[in-house]
Amino acid sequence: MTGVICGTGACVPDRILDNNEIAEFVDTSDQWIQERTGVIRRRIAVKETTSSMAAEAGRQAIEEAGIKPEEIDMILAATATPDHIFPCAACEIQEKLGAVNAVCFDLNAACSGFLFAYQTAQAYIVSGMYRTILVVGSECLSRIVNWEDRGTCILFGDGSGAAVLRAAEGRNWVSAAHSDGKGGPALLCQGPNAEESGKTGNLPGQAQPEGDGGKRPGISMDGKAVFQFAVRKVPEVVREVLDANGLTAEDIDWFILHQANKRIVESVAKRLKTDISKFPMNLQEYGNTSSASIPILLNEMNRRGMLKKGQKLMMAGFGAGLSWGAAVLEWGI
Ligand code: UT7
Repeated sequence: MTGVICGTGACVPDRILDNNEIAEFVDTSDQWIQERTGVIRRRIAVKETTSSMAAEAGRQAIEEAGIKPEEIDMILAATATPDHIFPCAACEIQEKLGAVNAVCFDLNAACSGFLFAYQTAQAYIVSGMYRTILVVGSECLSRIVNWEDRGTCILFGDGSGAAVLRAAEGRNWVSAAHSDGKGGPALLCQGPNAEESGKTGNLPGQAQPEGDGGKRPGISMDGKAVFQFAVRKVPEVVREVLDANGLTAEDIDWFILHQANKRIVESVAKRLKTDISKFPMNLQEYGNTSSASIPILLNEMNRRGMLKKGQKLMMAGFGAGLSWGAAVLEWGI
């Protein structure tokens, strides 16, 4: 028993923010951004939200799967930017889709989110607990980006992607995932309870520090450290998954990597001694959409007819945590 993807969907905001527009408020240029990252433009949520985009992506995936929302047993939303701390995004998506029989929860593994959620969904299906699962990656990163930091604000974008997994007879592929909390400071975004927020508690009458209570909220990143981590760990985990399944890189038709930086994707392809044409990219259009990047790309390839039944796909995610992982699957649509 395994979970087979039988429908995909994606939704991105209408508002396009190109590199030249960013160069109007931070000291950067279209040329620098394109050369160092590959990003040309990204989408920014204005009226859209994490759950509204996720529901639209989910609706498309359900439609393609040819099922009713009531048939979904579980909604798993990978997000680091839910609309509310609670209820979770997955419950909000459930309500919008009318997936009344689904159990719903969120999973935050930053840019590895979709990959980890996919693995979690597979585990539920293989165990026999659930048969039909909607996995969504959805982010409004523009809400947590520090728009004064040119080292990070150029990278990220908003969007959502989704896939419906259904239990079917088939090979249960081995996947892999890893975390390294020691690397946490390399890529972080403080939350309301973070030590660095400077807050001493919330009891009535408790004195709070002057000013904004510490560092400006938003994503902070040691770009070089994250870059080096990604180009070392992604090929490693891909090889781990290939070996565990008795496959070689030649057996894989498409490598669907988290879309963080063109140079990272190129470097991974080189280290795997695999032609770059097997590594599709759309980061030039959307930037880094964190947990949404893999399912947005998957949906784009699916809708363009690039994926053929029986082809082998290798998905690989990496990001804050630090966290990274890979999973192989056979395309079933
Ligand atoms: O999902 C995972 C999320 N994170 C990532 O994937 C990030 C991985 N890292 C990266 O993609 C790259 O490290 C960046 C694109 C963030 C930065 O590229 P880099 O080649 O590592 O640049 P750098 O940080 O070493 O900076 C080189 C120079 C510096 O100037 P000096 O010190 O050489 O004078 C920076 O101040 O480029 C400068 N710089 C910029 N210049 C123009 C940094 N950001 C910009 C900018 N525009 N936006």
